[in-house]
Amino acid sequence: MKNLTADELRETYLKFFESKGHAIIPGASVIPENDPTVLFTTAGMHPLVPYLMGAMEHPAGTRLTDVQKCVRTGDIDEVGDAAHLTFFEMLGNWSLNDYFKKEAISWSFEFLTTKLGFSPDQLSVTVFRGEGKEGEPGYIPADEEAVAIWKSLGIPDERIYRLPREDNWWGPAGTTGPCGPDTEMFIDTGRPKCGPDCRPGCHCGKFVEIWNDVFMQYNKNAEGKFEPLGRHNVDTGMGVERTICMMSGAPTVYDTEIFAPIMAKIDELSSPEAVAALSADEALKARRVIADHMRTATFILCDPKGGVKPGNVGANYVLRRLIRRAIRYSRMLGIGEGFTVKMAETVCAKYKHVYPELAANLETCRNDLAQEEKRFNATLDKGEAMYNKVAEQLKAHGQSQISGKTAFKLYDTFGFPIELTLEMAAKDGLTVDKDGFDEANRKHQELSRTTSAGSFKAGLQDNSEVVTRLHTATHLLHAALHKVLGPTANQKGSNITAERLRFDFAWPQKMTDEQKAEVEKLVNGWIEQGIEVTKKMTTVEEAKAEGAMALFGAKYGDQVSLYTIGDVSKEICCGPHVQNTKELGSFKIKKEEASSAGVRRIKAVIGNM
Ligand code: SER
Repeated sequence: MKNLTADELRETYLKFFESKGHAIIPGASVIPENDPTVLFTTAGMHPLVPYLMGAMEHPAGTRLTDVQKCVRTGDIDEVGDAAHLTFFEMLGNWSLNDYFKKEAISWSFEFLTTKLGFSPDQLSVTVFRGEGKEGEPGYIPADEEAVAIWKSLGIPDERIYRLPREDNWWGPAGTTGPCGPDTEMFIDTGRPKCGPDCRPGCHCGKFVEIWNDVFMQYNKNAEGKFEPLGRHNVDTGMGVERTICMMSGAPTVYDTEIFAPIMAKIDELSSPEAVAALSADEALKARRVIADHMRTATFILCDPKGGVKPGNVGANYVLRRLIRRAIRYSRMLGIGEGFTVKMAETVCAKYKHVYPELAANLETCRNDLAQEEKRFNATLDKGEAMYNKVAEQLKAHGQSQISGKTAFKLYDTFGFPIELTLEMAAKDGLTVDKDGFDEANRKHQELSRTTSAGSFKAGLQDNSEVVTRLHTATHLLHAALHKVLGPTANQKGSNITAERLRFDFAWPQKMTDEQKAEVEKLVNGWIEQGIEVTKKMTTVEEAKAEGAMALFGAKYGDQVSLYTIGDVSKEICCGPHVQNTKELGSFKIKKEEASSAGVRRIKAVIGNM
């Protein structure tokens, strides 16, 4: 096994796939450009979805390779253990309806064994075991083809694990898009099995997944069904941090050269007394949380696309949570104010030669962090003062438990995190009714969900459905703007979250109240009419001849999908869309404001009001 640095790994990987006919393309922004189904780029495939779907041709060809910055915050609370990271780099090689399983698997094997020097004996692989019965709907066969390829490369049957969908199917969870069975590659660390059922995919740490080859043959549609994609793509993802960890023999990703300067900075800033007061596990967890979260926050704040700042909704909220969680843990280590900026500088120094945006945007990143840290510290100080009052009163009355209601009030009204109430109470010899707190929190959340703007059916729908409906609403809005303002009011940008759509369009001045009301009336009228949304595959020329609007700046492929909403709208678009405008319920403009010179921005919501 070789002991490459992350810099060497990136270069070796890209060169290897270049030698196999792949074009090296730049990774995309960590803030998605064209994919409204995710808050952040969570995998290398997201920026490539239109090409994977065949909606257009990639200008660099059908074999691509890249390094993609990814942010996954789904299990943010797991961060602090040995394996979870909220930011990681993913190496990828792509076949856009070009090569398929044989080449993908053989090249993965060749790269692992000849370029990284892993022994074939260290490798275990998993493949999709299929589901359903032949001849019945929903049947998907087992991937025996992948098994045969692995065997031909010398991997014995006992190290080829056939696993169900939970393990060996890749498709963005809860959303629509291209997907398919995958084969995952694990390094056996040589540690003993944790039990008789221990196998790749078990989280005990014996097997570490470093690479995933996805064979995209299906599309998950808006109804959650898998329909054949009509193309055979390959999407692979190799995790830089984990691969480096396995090559170096380091016990965790945090012990690799990647994190070395970041961990060293944390240790330098920590107070030895504060650290000594913690158990070794607590101190270790705090160091890891800070390192992980501040690395992620720095990449988000320095992203070339920009626009994500600490805030209370969507991606902004995720960023705020990362920064505030890091600050909380920094206080445990006795780290003083101003540390977020120092951490960002350390992350920047480590990565700026690979990601120049870190140096270019460091100044704004510094300002954003300093401001957020100041704001949060003020919140904490105020919360601490309130907590002290509560504690004094309890003691004065000879009581020793903080009620759930009081803990919730500290959290809800003063923004004081429950973890801090628990910590401070423990120091003061008080207990907290945590169950009572959870109950109050749950009730509050339910309440706010049912009353929130009357938009969604009390949180019953999953985000992807809402996003699909907003996607169709965007087409209706675009058509209405053309009717009310004229044909120059063209789309300049669009962004959709589970809460709202955002639409930028060319228009030189503020819309009048009458114009906004007229647009709402048109869209709501079309929704009420229950117009069918149809999709057909066609060529760009034909679509344009039919009067379709084309939105993506990039070159279109031979075949594009054209979405038609009665005689209201015709747009070339990757979808997904609802089948009937009735599904949108109703439409309301929340805001109309300037976006940039000559461009206005509308934020709008839909609902079943
Ligand atoms: N999309 C797959 C993954 O994220 C492979 O790149 O694992």
